Amino acid sequence: MGPEARAAITAVGHYLPETRLTNQDLSEMVDTNDAWIRARTGIEERRILTDEGKGTSYMAARAGQEILEKRGISADEIDAIIIATVTPDMAFPATSCLVQAELGASNAWGFDLSAACSGFLFALNTGAGLIESGRAAKVLVIGSDKMSSITDYTDRKTCVLFGDAAAGVLLEAAPDGYGLIDSVLRVDGDGWESLCMLGGGSRHPATHDTVDNKMHYIYQDGRAVFKVAVKGMADVAAEIMERNQLTGDDVRYLVPHQANQRIIDAVARRMGLGIDRVMLNISRYGNTTAATIPLCLHDWEDQLKKGDKIVIAAFGGGFTWGASYLRWSYSHLPKEQSHGG
Ligand code: UT7
Repeated sequence: MGPEARAAITAVGHYLPETRLTNQDLSEMVDTNDAWIRARTGIEERRILTDEGKGTSYMAARAGQEILEKRGISADEIDAIIIATVTPDMAFPATSCLVQAELGASNAWGFDLSAACSGFLFALNTGAGLIESGRAAKVLVIGSDKMSSITDYTDRKTCVLFGDAAAGVLLEAAPDGYGLIDSVLRVDGDGWESLCMLGGGSRHPATHDTVDNKMHYIYQDGRAVFKVAVKGMADVAAEIMERNQLTGDDVRYLVPHQANQRIIDAVARRMGLGIDRVMLNISRYGNTTAATIPLCLHDWEDQLKKGDKIVIAAFGGGFTWGASYLRWSYSHLPKEQSHGG
């Protein structure tokens, strides 16, 4: 890459709805059971946003608020807000506009980015570009998805997988040697039919038929996606390690998208990483689409140290996938000592 400035993550925030949906709950709704879900996915429970009339922007704004508080800055210092989501509050306006208004980020522009489970990774790279080019000094990048709004709770193949959450980061110019160093990003539209939501867009606008045919729900050919996800994620992770001369011993943490623990295990094996160096929280939240990766960063923030070498890897609908290599830019300090204002 070699830009003048690099972009670093300087704060992490999150929002999780309180309502828990356990494997036991699901086994009372569809023909499934705790043992199957744990063995095949690693998931034990997920969070669901049940409040009437609240959508993705509600969660994203709360994650954004936590980021501002942790970094000790005010909303009007934000230059841009990128929301990665496949479950926007509405087709338009963009969820980023609603988040901007709720935060009171009076000097920000922003937009939504649609890349399914790779949404945060793509948004992180897009936001980093704004910092590297000097067009922005502070960019909020938030992954937020209310997957329960597009999940068919009579379909056991998909309803056990997904949960709702938001999490995100603040990007700022990095001191020398820190921040986002390299990325391998890919899309392959030939795979679109394996993981999609057919209804509600311009090709099949909402009609009684689209509702009757369940076209407003996630469709996934799980087996087909599993195969390409393992290969896709492992290939880009290996490529990013090779071209940055990283061995398994160098990487402090793999931060993988959390779709299936078996996919994550396979990627970690290919990278030569023990499970102690893999951020794994799928058991508690399920697949929260664009939120999984920043949610991991949030859960592990206390253990991250300045200079840690981190590889982020994702795979999702589109197909979209990729990996980024970054050097973490701060060590966690107790709240009153951190960052300052
Ligand atoms: O995040 C974006 C990218 N998405 C992914 O990476 C997801 C990739 N795919 C997967 O993670 C897995 O394919 C799933 C977790 C979705 C499914 O696991 P699987 O091991 O691939 O199962 P399968 O689809 O091959 O189904 C095996 C059996 C089938 O029964 P038969 O046909 O063998 O009799 C399914 O009907 O398991 C059955 N099954 C279930 N049984 C109990 C499917 N879902 C369930 C369920 N409970 N919830």
